[in-house]
Amino acid sequence: MGQPLRIGIVGVGAISGQYLSTFERLGTLGSGAVRLVAVADLDADRAAAVAAEQGVRALTVDELVTDPEVDAVLNLTIPAAHAEVALKAIAAGKDVYGEKPLAATTDDARAIVEAARAAGVRVGCAPDTVLGTGVQTARKAIDDGLVGTPVAATATMVTPGHERWHPNPDFYYQPGGGPLLDMGPYYVTALVTLLGPVESVVGSASRARATRTIGSGPREGDQVPVDVDTHVTGVLRHESGALSTLVISFDAVATRASCIEVHGDQGSLVVPDPNGFDGTVELHRLGGTWEDLPVSAGYRDAGRGYGLADLAATPPGATARANGDLAYHVLDVMTSLLTAVEKGTSVSVASACERPAAVPLSDAPRI
Ligand SMILES: NC(=O)c1ccc[n+]([C@@H]2O[C@H](COP(=O)([O-])OP(=O)(O)OC[C@H]3O[C@@H](n4cnc5c(N)ncnc54)[C@H](O)[C@@H]3O)[C@@H](O)[C@H]2O)c1
Repeated sequence: MGQPLRIGIVGVGAISGQYLSTFERLGTLGSGAVRLVAVADLDADRAAAVAAEQGVRALTVDELVTDPEVDAVLNLTIPAAHAEVALKAIAAGKDVYGEKPLAATTDDARAIVEAARAAGVRVGCAPDTVLGTGVQTARKAIDDGLVGTPVAATATMVTPGHERWHPNPDFYYQPGGGPLLDMGPYYVTALVTLLGPVESVVGSASRARATRTIGSGPREGDQVPVDVDTHVTGVLRHESGALSTLVISFDAVATRASCIEVHGDQGSLVVPDPNGFDGTVELHRLGGTWEDLPVSAGYRDAGRGYGLADLAATPPGATARANGDLAYHVLDVMTSLLTAVEKGTSVSVASACERPAAVPLSDAPRI
């Protein structure tokens, strides 16, 4: 049996709790893939509190990335800091795995992927929700031919806006935010997992209001300026020829549309929420009726952090599933769609990636 990948977390804010509970769960399952050894945060008190709770060391960011006991840096900082932290870790010869998006811009994201390649270290990135039983069972159904030849997909995410619950929602309405960059990583990563990479995009978008009203917290009632489109629609042409229609909105109250549907000449598939790990996959065969498919692939009861454990368990020479090339392609697809909206034309997606390997039905990545 190999040694666990020793993890140092940079950024122990809101989402870090989910990773910490995943590490605990992986320990209970005897996965052996990862072991937390240190944490760091700009807020030293926050880092110290988490370190004490976890029984690990609290370090500064510079200490953590160069620490000889840290093999991989888990980057859970805010998107604007993703590149800075990742590049520091890569320069110190560490693997990096980060929250989505890979970086705030495609230039920064490319710098991460290229620096890692030059340094011979690995890059991984959320979302790893697509490694759960929901999207993986749907993928297996497609790979097993249950829908015949896939021709199209739809992906729909609507909400009336995060300012209703988020006390400081300003960044959602500034460049780098917006519904596409915020929620798109889940949907586009799922579409690439199901149907392969995207070669071109067209789109159109709108914004319903010039300001949004904060609905909770000390700033309740304050107006937030809107500098991005808040209803984004697009068509992604996959290399396979399949077309995915995307609707991602902060301007709609509710929907009864499936999060994702995939259509082929022999069947249609309902895919569960790609912002979760599980859920029921439904199939309608040609001439049949809707039926629930049994869970047949993916990590059971997975949580945030399984993508990092999967990377740790990936043998040398093989490519981890939630890898940097995939995350870069997903960011490139989204930014190309925003360019297509701005220009009013079709835009080619410059990057490509391999469709990540399927996940056989299992409890956890193991080394
Ligand atoms: N909160 C969620 O529900 C959620 C869900 C999915 C994904 N994410 C992603 O997780 C990431 C973090 O989100 P969050 O909600 O935990 O944010 P957060 O603001 O709660 O936490 C971020 C933490 O990183 C620290 N930090 C920021 N810059 C740093 C730097 N340069 N060096 C060291 N520490 C730094 C902050 O002090 C803070 O403790 C984002 O990429 C976000 O997209 C969040």
